[in-house]
Amino acid sequence: MTQFMEQAISPPQPSGPRNPEGYAIIPASRTDWASFTEDSLISDVMNYHQGVDRASDNRKRSHQRVTYQRKSGLISPLPYQGYSQSADYNPDAAGAVRHFSSIDPRFLTSKTLANALKQHLQFADQTIEGLDNLEEVSMGLHLVRYLAQNTEVATSSPPWLHVDQERAVTVFVLGKSANLEGGQNVWVGKDQKYKVIDLDPMDGIFLTQNGRHAVMPMWSKNGRYAYRDILIITTD
Ligand SMILES: [Fe+2]
Repeated sequence: MTQFMEQAISPPQPSGPRNPEGYAIIPASRTDWASFTEDSLISDVMNYHQGVDRASDNRKRSHQRVTYQRKSGLISPLPYQGYSQSADYNPDAAGAVRHFSSIDPRFLTSKTLANALKQHLQFADQTIEGLDNLEEVSMGLHLVRYLAQNTEVATSSPPWLHVDQERAVTVFVLGKSANLEGGQNVWVGKDQKYKVIDLDPMDGIFLTQNGRHAVMPMWSKNGRYAYRDILIITTD
C-alpha cells in the first residue's frame, strides 16, 4: 500500500476551480490496471528500448509527441522534433533542444497507455480551459528509467523544486525495484507546505503550475542495480 505521509489528500479530485490545491493523487485502484497488466511489455521497453539521457548516466529515457482522438481512443505519433524547456523552467537544460530516442511503438498501442491517458485527461480537462471541447488532443509522452548502482545517485531533471512548462502533467510509476531508496514525490503548494508522497507502481500524481514539485534523489540500498520507471504525460 502506498503510504501518503500527508493526510487529507484523498479522495482524488480533478484539479481546477473546485480543487485549487493544484495537484492530485491518482491511486492505482482508480485506473483499471488489473485487467490490463502488460508487465513483460513494459519491462522489455524499459530495459532494452530506451535511449541514454546525455545529461545523466543515471537516466534512460524516450520521448514522443502524440495526438489522441477522444472518441476512437486512437493514439498517433507525431514526427519527432526533440524536446526543449525554456531556461525559465529548467535551468539545467537552458532552452536547448534535447534529443531522446522515440518511444517503442508497441507501447503506443498498449492498454496501459490508453488507460493512463484517460486518467490524465480527466484531470487536464479540469485545469486547461477549453481542452474538453477538443476532439483531438496533442500530448507529450516521456518514459524514464532512473537507475543507480554502487554509490550512484539518480536525480530527476531539474533536480529540485520547480514548475513544469506544461499546464497539466501526470506522472505514473510503472515499476520500481525493491532495493530502490528515495524517489518520493514532493509537492509544495501556494501555502508553502511540503507534502511528501511515496507512490507505488501504477499510482500516479497529477501536477499543475499551481505549486512546485520535485522528486527525491534515488539510490540503491544494497549497491546492486536499482531502478524506478515512470511515464510522464504532458499537455501544454
Ligand atoms: Fe517536473
